Amino acid sequence: MARRFFIGGNWKCNGTLKSIEDLLSTLNGADLAKPLPEVVVAPTYVHLAWVKSKLREDFAVAAQNSWIKGSGAYTGEISPEILKDLGIPWVILGHSERRTLCSESSQVVADKTKYALDKGLAVILCVGETLEQREAGKTFDTVAEQLKPVAGALSSWTAVVVAYEPVWAIGTGKVATPEQAQEVHAYIRSWLTDNVSPEVSDTTRLIYGGSVTAKNSAELGSAKDIDGFLVGGASLKPDFVEIIKSAP
Ligand code: G3P
Repeated sequence: MARRFFIGGNWKCNGTLKSIEDLLSTLNGADLAKPLPEVVVAPTYVHLAWVKSKLREDFAVAAQNSWIKGSGAYTGEISPEILKDLGIPWVILGHSERRTLCSESSQVVADKTKYALDKGLAVILCVGETLEQREAGKTFDTVAEQLKPVAGALSSWTAVVVAYEPVWAIGTGKVATPEQAQEVHAYIRSWLTDNVSPEVSDTTRLIYGGSVTAKNSAELGSAKDIDGFLVGGASLKPDFVEIIKSAP
């Protein structure tokens, strides 16, 4: 079945009022051919509502994280309920920076994913191996270990996009080759067939993240099982518009 191409821009912990105003004017002014891929940008929490209010209506916004439970005495956290109330439709969960820097286990990511979906958010679920894991021949095992608790927790995948982000390609300029990315995407699709269902495998969008730029996006996007991108650094630049334009 046809899966709508998906392009996410993960702004991470970046942006000033001025740089975001400039970026919004680039995005809002871009002349894009229809039909558009699905485009979602993820500013920091403090910029989220403002960006949503200024962003063109055919793009959506995502939070970069959400709490594992509902609102309450959780200082510094943001619940899916708060995001939903603000009209934020998407959240990124399980990014490698949170798995590594904030010690989020695959089970925590699965529980967060379930909670966010239960509260009506759509989730960009990130998985991916480190260089050490790749060199040890453990890429598939790592991705399977990350997906397993999610498959155990979810009853529906309709609001999930899976982002394969090899850690060694994030922010390094070392992009996976289309063959390397396709190989893992094909593995994830077969894993979903075997562990969830053929239908979920067929309909779930699998996007690639890791040093995507306007120079490599068209080639990556032509691979059979690559249904889009999660872009970091290049999503803060006019390059992002070119990446959107390169969508198949
Ligand atoms: O979530 C996007 C990401 O981690 C990739 O970042 O800067 O390599 O495009 P970058």
